[in-house]
Amino acid sequence: MPPAPLMTAFGSPPLLALAPMQDVTDLPFLRTLQRLHCLPDFIVTPYLRSTTTSCVMPDSIIRCITDNPTPCPIWAQLAGSEVEPLLRDVATLQKLPIAGFNLNAGCPAPLVNRHGAGAALLKNPTHLRRICRAMRDAIPPGRWSLKCRIGWESSEEFPQILEAVCSSSPDFLAIHARTRRQLYAGTTDDASVRLAVQLAPCPVLANGNITSLAETEHRLRNTQAHGIMIGRGIVRNPYLLRELRGGISPSRTEMSLYYTTLLEETGRELSHPSPAAHCHRMKKFLSFCYADFPPQIDYSLRRCTSPAEMEKLLLIAANASPSR
Ligand SMILES: Cc1cc2nc3c(=O)[nH]c(=O)nc-3n(C[C@H](O)[C@H](O)[C@H](O)COP(=O)(O)O)c2cc1C
Repeated sequence: MPPAPLMTAFGSPPLLALAPMQDVTDLPFLRTLQRLHCLPDFIVTPYLRSTTTSCVMPDSIIRCITDNPTPCPIWAQLAGSEVEPLLRDVATLQKLPIAGFNLNAGCPAPLVNRHGAGAALLKNPTHLRRICRAMRDAIPPGRWSLKCRIGWESSEEFPQILEAVCSSSPDFLAIHARTRRQLYAGTTDDASVRLAVQLAPCPVLANGNITSLAETEHRLRNTQAHGIMIGRGIVRNPYLLRELRGGISPSRTEMSLYYTTLLEETGRELSHPSPAAHCHRMKKFLSFCYADFPPQIDYSLRRCTSPAEMEKLLLIAANASPSR
């Protein structure tokens, strides 16, 4: 019997979003998801840096929007710390075929935080509120959202952060349920997500370390969230999206197809094609997959500089991997 489809506490299927990941959830990855028929409900781009002088808009991110190979709506994420540059960049990006805007209030990168952006916004809820309200006013209804962490140092900061964010009536809120201090490790705080579900006037998506159907069920139950946002778990196993909709887990043949498709799509988009550059690019994805590979394959892949050799290693890895 097929597994019962996942449901939220509200009795609807959970929203499934692809998390933004710089240099990972790019055009080759989106094309791969499309070719495998593993699609989220919507996508958020990696952040575009909004600075006082300009918006850093890498071609690789803009093309995810203009050349989006999937039927999924795509939200443009901005990381910035001042109202005026953010509004300037909203005006520019409005012209592109995006579903809406997402403010990054979670990036822990020191370079971004030094300029007051990303997770640094969480340190000053009054300023965060000002930015959120200004963006809400500038952005049409249905098109304003945030992705945030639950604090800079401690989850005790979250109620004030949440209040600031909710004052702008976002259209969805994705919560990476860790503090900036935790970076990408340590347990996620389901209680903070649950608080957001109770108080936010919009759907709330739980994010952070969701890598399986069982973990998704557990997190939906514990947080009561309307959906989940997944990053690394989809890179490791894109078929997880199918499983979360009641489908079957991937066969070894499907995992082989995933790796070879990604290798092909990554090769197509190289700006300076060379075998070493191609392997280097692939390793950005594989770093989230190594844990599934036998140790000697993991070792060889990390050192591999030939795409042909990499393909052979990946086929061995797919066939040696535990069936899911
Ligand atoms: C390599 C990498 C790049 C990321 N880039 C972004 C980004 O541009 N914007 C953002 O909001 N989060 C970014 N994140 C955070 C993810 O969106 C996500 O919140 C985090 O990885 C936890 O979710 P996961 O365990 O499902 O991956 C990045 C994470 C990683 C590992």
